[in-house]
Amino acid sequence: MKLILMMAMTLDGIIAKNSNQNADWTTKADKKAFIAETKKHGAIVMGQTTYEAIGRPLPGRLNLILSLEPETFKDKEQPELLEFKKGSPREIVDYLAGRGFASAILGGGARTNAMFLKAGVVDEILITVEPKLFGLGLNFTEGEELDLNLELLESKEIGDNAVQLRYKVIK
Ligand SMILES: NC(=O)c1ccc[n+]([C@@H]2O[C@H](COP(=O)([O-])OP(=O)(O)OC[C@H]3O[C@@H](n4cnc5c(N)ncnc54)[C@H](OP(=O)(O)O)[C@@H]3O)[C@@H](O)[C@H]2O)c1
Repeated sequence: MKLILMMAMTLDGIIAKNSNQNADWTTKADKKAFIAETKKHGAIVMGQTTYEAIGRPLPGRLNLILSLEPETFKDKEQPELLEFKKGSPREIVDYLAGRGFASAILGGGARTNAMFLKAGVVDEILITVEPKLFGLGLNFTEGEELDLNLELLESKEIGDNAVQLRYKVIK
């Protein structure tokens, strides 16, 4: 199964000013690209903190939320829309493959991205570079030392002064 990490970041590499900030600061062009890409693949994986910042499941896709205590959220689960799960990055990828997904989006946040990159299960990175500088905040990976090489597959302007970059993770 192909896993694509999709993020919007400022020109200085920041995805949020802090862990509680919603990702709604991004351009309309990025939001449109995000909706199209996530619906295309049908599943989005995200950390519990990101889910709390969004505050609701994204409709029309499986939202797989990672938590060390997924049983706490069992009453919130909705079939095919919202699931909470614990597991290593490899176990999560295998779980999605077993559910029949050929590909899925990894939607952050910073700590989840780092964990999945470190585990070597991310195949592509799709970044929107937003026309903003925050100076301080969360980098798009946090918490793990990484030294990965990337191959640029595509770069394009998507409108609203934003640029989308698609990289392959060289394994
Ligand atoms: N700009 C963008 O495109 C973008 C996109 C996404 C997110 N964000 C921002 O990123 C920020 C959140 O990032 P963050 O780094 O603070 O947190 P995060 O990565 O969203 O969530 C971390 C939490 O996820 C759970 N988790 C992650 N991997 C797990 C695994 N393998 N098994 C079990 N649980 C796992 C743990 O939850 P528990 O503690 O519950 O166990 C962990 O504390 C928010 O501000 C959000 O808005 C920005």
